[in-house]
Amino acid sequence: MKYNGVIERYKKYLPVTKKTPIITLQEGNTPLIYADYLSKLMGENFEIYLKYEGLNPTGSFKDRGMTLAISKACEEGSKAVMCASTGNTSASAAAYAARAGIKCIVFIPSGAIALGKLSQALIHGAQVLAIEGNFDDALELAKEITKNYPITLVNSLNPYRIEGQKTASFEICDCLREAPDFQVMPVGNAGNITAYWKGYKEYKESGKIKILPKMLGFQAKGSAPIVKGYPIKNPKTIATAIRIGNPASWKQAEAARDESKGMIDLVSDKEIINAYKLLAQKEGVFVEPASAASIAGLLKLAKKDYFKRNTQYARRNTQIVCILTGHGLKDPDRAIKSIKEPKLVQANLKAVLKEIGC
Ligand code: F0G
Repeated sequence: MKYNGVIERYKKYLPVTKKTPIITLQEGNTPLIYADYLSKLMGENFEIYLKYEGLNPTGSFKDRGMTLAISKACEEGSKAVMCASTGNTSASAAAYAARAGIKCIVFIPSGAIALGKLSQALIHGAQVLAIEGNFDDALELAKEITKNYPITLVNSLNPYRIEGQKTASFEICDCLREAPDFQVMPVGNAGNITAYWKGYKEYKESGKIKILPKMLGFQAKGSAPIVKGYPIKNPKTIATAIRIGNPASWKQAEAARDESKGMIDLVSDKEIINAYKLLAQKEGVFVEPASAASIAGLLKLAKKDYFKRNTQYARRNTQIVCILTGHGLKDPDRAIKSIKEPKLVQANLKAVLKEIGC
């Protein structure tokens, strides 16, 4: 049967009816890649999987929530949607709004989003306003406007976004035939950790799985309000997607952490860049820096023997799923900055052979 996106596949678990127009780009159904190198690195009895969400139609996990948010906005007769974004939400909103034939307005923090994401919002025809402030300022504006004007907010404060995004945990469980023991993921505005946890709990209630994973979320060191316990006025990190100082779903993220007996911790930009390069060079998987926070977190906790100390099911291997939220091509500048640029060589055989050591 033809795959037709997450709403059709998981409609039983989603707030849709026969009347809901389904606006889809066949998002979801992303690969759960077995990580050979990382599994070996973690030692015996560990299986590490990468949920490669960068392979969604606009290159990030946002498409799962956007298909539902835009479909419901259309069902409700909305003619325009709005979001504040560090880039991926705006790219996704712009694409799905284009497909639905409705207007899309996005607020981005000026000068602080990756080039690929900006190009997406622009080419899909969204009205893009670069706000002279950070993401938190932009979100406050979007909330204020959508409260007073007939424009639908499609940030993750929109409950349909969370509903759509929870389908990723369904896919992981369908693939492993159980929930993993641990799930590791980056945390920014905290919608995604909220969504995954909701998904796991619903699958357990419906009898599809028997265990729940421990949820392990990672913020960037200069943007770690949940870890610190207070909002950060001027969040900083090279992982621009998660440069957020006052997450909208703060409380829900804490609930996911506490109910699952997991944790929310931080990783430095250096750890993020090291993990970013390791993933690309040892696993062959190119992600944007924010997504590498998952792997940086995995390695940080492994060093402290966290997983060995917290594994409960000695009868089988411990399964850890790392969520890779966005594609590496979103932020090509960062890749080039992290590695030496190509060397200029004369166009003759002798010069080239000398350079490659033949
Ligand atoms: N990874 C990527 C690639 C993201 O774009 C985001 C969030 C996150 C992780 C964090 O997810 O916010 O649900 O905790 N990006 C939002 C945006 C904020 O505007 O694109 P979260």
